[in-house]
This record gives sequence, C-alpha cells and structure tokens, in this order.
Amino acid sequence: MRRVYLDNNATTPVLPEVLEAMRPYFSEQFGNASSIHQDGQQARSAVERARESVAALLGARSSEVVFTSGGTEGDNTSLFGMVKAGDHIITTVIEHEAVLNSCKRLEQLGCEVTYLRVNGECLVDPDDVRRALRPNTKLISVMMANNETGVLQPLEEIGKIAAEADVYFHTDAVQAAGKVQVDVKAIRCDLLAISGHKFHAPKGVGALYVRKGTLVQPLFYGGKHERSRRAGTENVPAIVGLGKAAEIAREGLTNGAMERIHAMRDRIESTVTSTIEATGVNGGGAPRVPNTANVHLDYVEGEAMVIALDLKGIAVSTGAACSSGATEPSHVLMAMGVSPEHARGSMRFSLGKMNTSEDVDYFLSVLPEVLARLRELSPMYAKSIG
Ligand SMILES: Cc1ncc(COP(=O)(O)O)c(C=O)c1O
Repeated sequence: MRRVYLDNNATTPVLPEVLEAMRPYFSEQFGNASSIHQDGQQARSAVERARESVAALLGARSSEVVFTSGGTEGDNTSLFGMVKAGDHIITTVIEHEAVLNSCKRLEQLGCEVTYLRVNGECLVDPDDVRRALRPNTKLISVMMANNETGVLQPLEEIGKIAAEADVYFHTDAVQAAGKVQVDVKAIRCDLLAISGHKFHAPKGVGALYVRKGTLVQPLFYGGKHERSRRAGTENVPAIVGLGKAAEIAREGLTNGAMERIHAMRDRIESTVTSTIEATGVNGGGAPRVPNTANVHLDYVEGEAMVIALDLKGIAVSTGAACSSGATEPSHVLMAMGVSPEHARGSMRFSLGKMNTSEDVDYFLSVLPEVLARLRELSPMYAKSIG
C-alpha cells in the first residue's frame, strides 16, 4: 500500500545527501576530533565545517554554535544553565515539554516562573512579556514556532523588550529552523536551540546558539569540548549530517523548496475547509511556518482518525509526538481557547521535503471517506445533523 508521511514535525527522514556526507565518518575517517594526529584533525575540520553551516543558517558566528544532542538538551542547557534559586523566568503555556518540564523542575528548585497565556491564534502578546518583568527576572524563554500549530511568535518585539530590560532571552527554534529565516541578530536572542531531526539530519544531534559573552553553565562536566560549554566526545558523523542538512535547509529557503511545501500545505487547508463541513484551521490567522496545518475535524476523536488514516497508509498526528497516547486534549489548543470538543477532533498535518503533490492528492482523496465513516459512528454528529 502507498505510504504518505505527513508527520514531519515529529521527525523527518535523513536526506540521501546527508547520509552520504556522514558515511565516511563512521569508518574510514573515524578520528576523535580532539586528537592532534591526522585522523583527529580530519574529524576536527569536518566538525568545524559543520559549525560554519549551522552558523550560516542562524546568522551567527561559528564560535557561537555549540553542538548538542538535540532540542531537549539545548532547551535544558539554556534554562538550567542561566538561572539559580530566587531568579524569575518568563515563559509561555504553549512551550514544548522540554521547556515546560524544565521550568516545573526549576520551580521545585526555588525559581519563580510566569507562564504567559496566548490568544485564540496561539500568539503571545509582547506587552504581557513587558508586564511580567520583575526586578529578579533573569530569563525570558519563548518558542519561535509552535510544534502543534506552527504559529510564529513575535520574537523581534520580545527580543527588544528583553534587551531593554537587560534580561537574557532564549528561544526554542526547533520547529522554525530550516522552515523560515532564523536570524539571531534580528531576534536579539542570547540562546537559541535547534534539533537536526526536524530538518532531515539524524536524531540525537542539534545545536545551541550561545551569543558571545553569554555565560551558560554546562549541563555536563568532563573534558573541554565545545569550548567547555558541552563536555563529551563530539558525535562527528551526526554533526557532519547536521551541517549538511543545515546547508540544504538554507538553500531551500530561497530555491523554491519551501515554497513548494507551503503550496501543498495551503492546498490541504483550503480543500479540507471548503469541501468538508464542520472543519477549520487552528491558528490559521497568525503567521506560521509553511509546512504545518492544524485542522479541527469536528465530531470525531483525533486519535481515532490517526489510526483510521494509518490503516490507509497515511501518517499524521494529533499534536506533539511526545504526548500522543495522552487522553487530555492538547495543552496548546486549550490555551488558545479551543473548546475541548474541537481540540479532541484536531489533527496536525506536517509536510516535508519528501512529500509530493501525488501524496497530497492521495491524502485528500482518502480523508473525506475516513472522516465520513467515523462521523457516522459519532453520536455527537448524529445529534448535530438532527
Ligand atoms: C518545539 C520543540 N522543542 C523541542 C523539541 C525536542 O527536540 P529533540 O527531539 O531534538 O530533543 C521538539 C521535538 O518535538 C519540539 O517540537
């Protein structure tokens, strides 16, 4: 059966070019990037080339890029590495668990945390950030793109507020990098986390931008790797893959690759909402990354749709992969004021470089019949049509 993968916000496949770039570093060029002999120096130069590519993707200097194991580590380093008991953090209710659960732990350790609300379009009001500032505010952490809705936050305004208040500013850009232009100077952030597996590099590798002069306490203690900002022998093949994926992602922002994805996403949204009753786009009125559609299909359970579509060969999600299986409706949609019923019938379709317009055709041909079948079984739907 045909398989159509529309869950690229959960993870993406490694691109063939990325795999090719990584391959020699598993075997022939296996050196430790800290060794001074030739084998080590080959690995070192591969790591530094990758650092330059990642820096170019973010508009940073390469010395400001620290390789990590992914988004979770970048977020944890930014939070645990910047604050101590008694400090105040401003964040939002729609962050990924990597930030939310770090903040919960920091509260247990004696930090104060303000969780800002969002409006019906999933947007944080920068004035709320300003109003939340306290004399002991040390860090503002607001994500760039939400993983469930794709909504982009007004980071330049928030960055300005942070700079004026002399407060550190971290952003989780895991779902933004490679999909929209990310420019650390325009955002004026001090810390920015990205994850390779969201843009066609392998899982378990990412990067943290640390603005020059920002003293972040490392999470790990050990050798002096990554200029003492992240101890542990560098994962050379994965870092090389991240560098190659960053290069391709950067090109994709201007060579039409992202525009193609954007057009497919818009086709899904407009076809679904114009041809199927009781549907709509969550966060559709806000600026968003081009690959993500969060659509409510009323009168069905999102989880049931995921299973029914999977049986037809289509992979989608109800929201964050980490919380799928949870029976609670999405914390992001609830924060937007979406009713629990709408939230339960909400699905995320997220596209990637591998998707074709034939994938979209197939998806759009299968969705109405799957939805109609589930709606027939729904007592809520029977009631609504009277
Ligand atoms: C917004 C966001 N932040 C952080 C993460 C965690 O990244 P990683 O899987 O690399 O640890 C994810 C992954 O789903 C994410 O979507």
